[in-house]
Amino acid sequence: MMINTRIHSHVSQPGIPRNKTNIITVWSASRRDWNAVRHIEAACFGWMRNVFGLWPRVGQSDTHTWVAGMNAAPVGYLIAYPNMLDEQPVMYIGGVGTLPEYRRRGVGTHLLHAVLSEYPRLWLHVRAGNADAIALYQNLGLQQVRRLPRFYSNGDDAIVMATS
Ligand SMILES: CC(C)(COP(=O)(O)OP(=O)(O)OC[C@H]1O[C@@H](n2cnc3c(N)ncnc32)[C@H](O)[C@@H]1OP(=O)(O)O)[C@@H](O)C(=O)NCCC(=O)NCCS
Repeated sequence: MMINTRIHSHVSQPGIPRNKTNIITVWSASRRDWNAVRHIEAACFGWMRNVFGLWPRVGQSDTHTWVAGMNAAPVGYLIAYPNMLDEQPVMYIGGVGTLPEYRRRGVGTHLLHAVLSEYPRLWLHVRAGNADAIALYQNLGLQQVRRLPRFYSNGDDAIVMATS
């Protein structure tokens, strides 16, 4: 049983563009999607992060991964798993990305709607300079809860965002 979530692009959800040519579908990833997810992750973040970040997580029982397809071809992914926030395990978005050529068409928004519909309480780290991602999360109601100076290995600050 591969598909347990499908959300077709329509206009009833906040933030989703009213563009009828976007046929975006979101589903829970299964084994047959891993390769596509891996390639999308690498296109968004590079292979090093894929090898040390996402790949060890994929397939673990507490990890939930979604794939977004544009006209059925995988173009985006989101991976989430429990992580400690204020000493409590809360679902954490460990990675979300859309292939560069498919951005600004609602894919990221659909992925966030999918995870939020299943896990209304969420948190994540985002680079302080990643205005695209911060705007996406704010549109979906996540708010900054703190800033972590020099959190990333290159010295970038992280913003911690969470649902209220
Ligand atoms: C962040 C990311 C996932 C957004 O995916 P997406 O499919 O383009 O998202 P959407 O089309 O649903 O965009 C939703 C909203 O986010 C904001 N946004 C996204 N990209 C933006 C950009 N380049 N400039 C300004 N706002 C942007 C906008 O508010 C947009 O709504 P709009 O297009 O109606 O104005 C995508 O840019 C990406 O893969 N970036 C590289 C990986 C990354 O940084 N991931 C997040 C790590 S924390």
